Amino acid sequence: MFYQRLGKIPPKRHTQFRQPDNNLYREEVVSSRGFSGIYSIQYHINPPTRIKSVGKAEKYGPKVLNEYGLKHIHLNTSGVKTTGDDYLSSRKVLLANSDCAISICAPQRRQMHYFYKNAEGDEVVFVHDGRGSLISPFGKLDFRKGDYVVIPRTVIYKLEFDEGPVRLLIIESASPVETVKRYRNELGQLLEHAPYCERDIRPPHELITETGKAEHIIKIKKEGFLHHYHYDHSPLDLVGWDGFLWPYAFSIHDFEPITGRIHQPPPVHQTFQGHNYVICSFVPRLFDYHPLSIPAPYNHSNIDSDEVLYYAEGNFMSRKGIERGSFTLHPGGLPHGPHPGTVEKSIGAKATEELAVMIDTFRPLHPTEDAMEFVDKNYPMSWSEGGESFNEVNAP
Ligand SMILES: [Fe+2]
Repeated sequence: MFYQRLGKIPPKRHTQFRQPDNNLYREEVVSSRGFSGIYSIQYHINPPTRIKSVGKAEKYGPKVLNEYGLKHIHLNTSGVKTTGDDYLSSRKVLLANSDCAISICAPQRRQMHYFYKNAEGDEVVFVHDGRGSLISPFGKLDFRKGDYVVIPRTVIYKLEFDEGPVRLLIIESASPVETVKRYRNELGQLLEHAPYCERDIRPPHELITETGKAEHIIKIKKEGFLHHYHYDHSPLDLVGWDGFLWPYAFSIHDFEPITGRIHQPPPVHQTFQGHNYVICSFVPRLFDYHPLSIPAPYNHSNIDSDEVLYYAEGNFMSRKGIERGSFTLHPGGLPHGPHPGTVEKSIGAKATEELAVMIDTFRPLHPTEDAMEFVDKNYPMSWSEGGESFNEVNAP
């Protein structure tokens, strides 16, 4: 990331910085990797440590099915209008492992009456449908359809949607979500051959400072619970901050595709990295231009990773039966590839309008109980023309 500042800060850190009534502003260093990673310094009107009361701890988290078995999975969520009432209750984890959890979220309610803090994971919110703002102590950050909103852990926030319907893909990450290391120089700047640059990364643009006394609830997610913390002041009580750690938005439409004469492998689509997984963006692009090129992907055996694709827009030429809002999981240990007939059909195609988000993990992903209602039972057999149905009895 890069250095940003918003609002008022003193010329030197850890020095006296006084409010109009002569009280000190309360400095808070928000740091990662202990004191070795990126950090920001915030200046509060109230001590961030002052709690009014600690409320209940509410159980919160998916039921992961660890023994689902080795199968290609298609979760068709295209028909889903809503997955629940508000932002937290409507987040449904569908696939998970210890490195990341992949959810859909289609809340009915457009406003949140509380703040939320994920104390154990960074979050990437891909806005498939909807428009609104992320409100956090770092300021207001507007987002729209096609944005990835990246929220480092412990950032207190709420989402406000201006329009619906709202449909989000959320990736919760046990490790920090970062830009791709091979695209950065030794001082962290994005290199010339990177498919995006700092200009495409949108930090919070407007500080919101709430000075009054009023009760606020922050629901803090940690270790399978939402812990309800009550405060007598707003968490939006900053007069300024600076540093490298802040939430940001990046539009998938600002990802510049890398193309070639022959089929380019998935790493050219990589957008973010986490520990043991990557996030990639498949965006509208010209197809391969070798005279004998085959635009459809080749069959592929990933010997040490699971591949998830979330199909956002366009026509997915290598897949039949896939709709807007489908997820496919092609696990390591099984080859996957284009559906019958799609390879020949792709020859001569000049461009694609497809838009998809891919999450590749090095550790196996497992579906959850919430995923079961979306399972397309015929998918494992979908490469066999006129094939028989999948025999669940023989499935482990
Ligand atoms: Fe693949």
